[in-house]
Amino acid sequence: MKTAYRTHTCGDLTASDTSAEVTLCGWVNVIRDQGGVLFVDLRDRYGVTQVTFRGDKDPDLLAAAERLRPEWVVRATGVVIARPSEAANKKMATGEIEVEATALEVLSRAETPPFPLDDRSEVSAEIRLRHRYLDLRRKDPTRYLAARAKIASAFRQHLERADFVEIETPTLICSTPEGARDYLVPSRVHPGSFYALPQSPQLFKQLLMIAGQDRYYQIARCYRDEDLRADRQPEFTQVDLEASFVGQDDIFALLEPLVAELIETWRGETMPQPFLRLSFAEAMRRFGSDKPDLRNPLELADVGAAGAALGFKPFEMAMASGGLVKALVAPGGAALSRKVFDGFEAEAKSMGAPGLAWAKMGEEKPTGPLARFLTGDAGDAFIAATGAKTGDWFCCAAGDAGLVHRILGKLRDSVAHKLELVDLTTNSVLWVTDFPLVEWNEDEQRFDAMHHPFTSPTPEAAEAILRFVEDPSSMSPADVAGLPAIAYDLVLNGAEAAGGSIRIHRADVQHAIFELLKISPDEVERRFGWFVNALKYGTPPHGGIAFGFDRMVMCLLGEAGIQDVIAFPKTMAAADLMCQAPSPVDAEQLADLSIDLALPEKPAAPDDAVDTERSS
Ligand code: AMO
Repeated sequence: MKTAYRTHTCGDLTASDTSAEVTLCGWVNVIRDQGGVLFVDLRDRYGVTQVTFRGDKDPDLLAAAERLRPEWVVRATGVVIARPSEAANKKMATGEIEVEATALEVLSRAETPPFPLDDRSEVSAEIRLRHRYLDLRRKDPTRYLAARAKIASAFRQHLERADFVEIETPTLICSTPEGARDYLVPSRVHPGSFYALPQSPQLFKQLLMIAGQDRYYQIARCYRDEDLRADRQPEFTQVDLEASFVGQDDIFALLEPLVAELIETWRGETMPQPFLRLSFAEAMRRFGSDKPDLRNPLELADVGAAGAALGFKPFEMAMASGGLVKALVAPGGAALSRKVFDGFEAEAKSMGAPGLAWAKMGEEKPTGPLARFLTGDAGDAFIAATGAKTGDWFCCAAGDAGLVHRILGKLRDSVAHKLELVDLTTNSVLWVTDFPLVEWNEDEQRFDAMHHPFTSPTPEAAEAILRFVEDPSSMSPADVAGLPAIAYDLVLNGAEAAGGSIRIHRADVQHAIFELLKISPDEVERRFGWFVNALKYGTPPHGGIAFGFDRMVMCLLGEAGIQDVIAFPKTMAAADLMCQAPSPVDAEQLADLSIDLALPEKPAAPDDAVDTERSS
């Protein structure tokens, strides 16, 4: 790392460099003044080295060093000295040595940073993001960025060894259907027309298969205007890939060694291969989630039959309307406080539950809101169906399957974490397969594609759909909603790390799917004519997958959010606090784009309201 400025980095020097004359550059990390001797920790990306200034050797140099302030950028020349063993710092890679300075040059001064740049201080996320370039000087973010680059490199190497070719696809495109809103870019040259930023390279990678490229990959930036969460950013990265003449097993066999290698390297655990496969139906039934964290031992119990006999109205109504009643048992949960139970109930309500029916299995008898229904044989049968034992706590959700699974799937995580049942040092990796092809959209009274409209049904489901569009009486809507697709997700520690499918390569099946989704021929032509047309010219069977790359890095580093593993992330309100994006633009720029803004009227801020009152 020798350059015109330095001979070594701040992470290089060890006892074997003793007596060498070196020049280091870096930021002043910490200054310790011991009266006549000044210790300056110099920091760069690679580490920290102690540089010592001794007044007895060079009083002028010491005086210059005393003027240094944290975060100044300096260049120090000196001689490497082995520290006496009692002064060695075992925690620092360079802790065996120090550099006794003979020269010092200030390359750049710094104002006092708006927050301390150590890893311990509690600083609001907003302040960190506003000055992300300072935040990134810290050890953890620096480590995360380096890890991210290494993980990207592992993906590249693995895919290139398997003959995948990296091909870039455009980012000023037309809308692709991944289910979120598009980010739009107005065209100056075509007034009134807009590009969409890609939600994924989906259609382009399929076109590359039609173009005979056989095996494509790309580390692709994707944009989705959707509600953000800790694991979702408006702008994120996918490792996107597609291959021709493959089935689901080929995709799994290609990727399992890579994912296992990444888990081994970054999480230190050897995962057995092949990975576990769970069908979507089984995952929902047992865990209430299509991305179950299997480190969590809790499973849901179907207590519908016993629940209907309890005399508890919400359970009776759920069963009468074809819904479900399910229970989640917290082993030993009776010892938790009422406040904790109230917290679980509030969580359930926030997901649309009218309330949470729960009971605490006391020594004598059950207590809690459901307890008065848990009497007699029906009560015993119900408790037996839940599997709850003395000392446990359990809760139930009733209603349609979607609601019940949403509530209990989430509570399963909360309860297990509260009871510390999840060993976060281990890992859980699995494929969830056989996703339904479509889901019923109650609001719009039609089917929506569960993944995207180019996902292939299984061959049997394809035949059923071809029959159904010919003769809608051949299948009930419930049966249509149950038709499986060849679609799969990779789930790592409870996060959807990747999602993909085998695609439709037959034009007749593709048209039947559009018909099933009630996308009219006109709309097909307008939205995807350019793509569907290409299917006519010899389309190989093909399929692929896309990893949420930020999520993979997050999981591999054991972080809880993706913001930390992105150099310049956005907030939950999709804003870049540092460069103040999005922001208004000049009237001139808008005029160039033929854009006339019709903004909703801004509601008066509370302070304005007070001012108005005062002046009136
Ligand atoms: P899908 O929509 O499942 O599939 O996306 C693939 C993976 O991308 C990640 N992901 C996100 N990560 C961060 N922020 C977001 N807003 C975000 N949205 C999605 C997830 C997800 O598993 N074209 C298909 C892939 C294919 O079929 O090959 C697609 O984009 O980890």
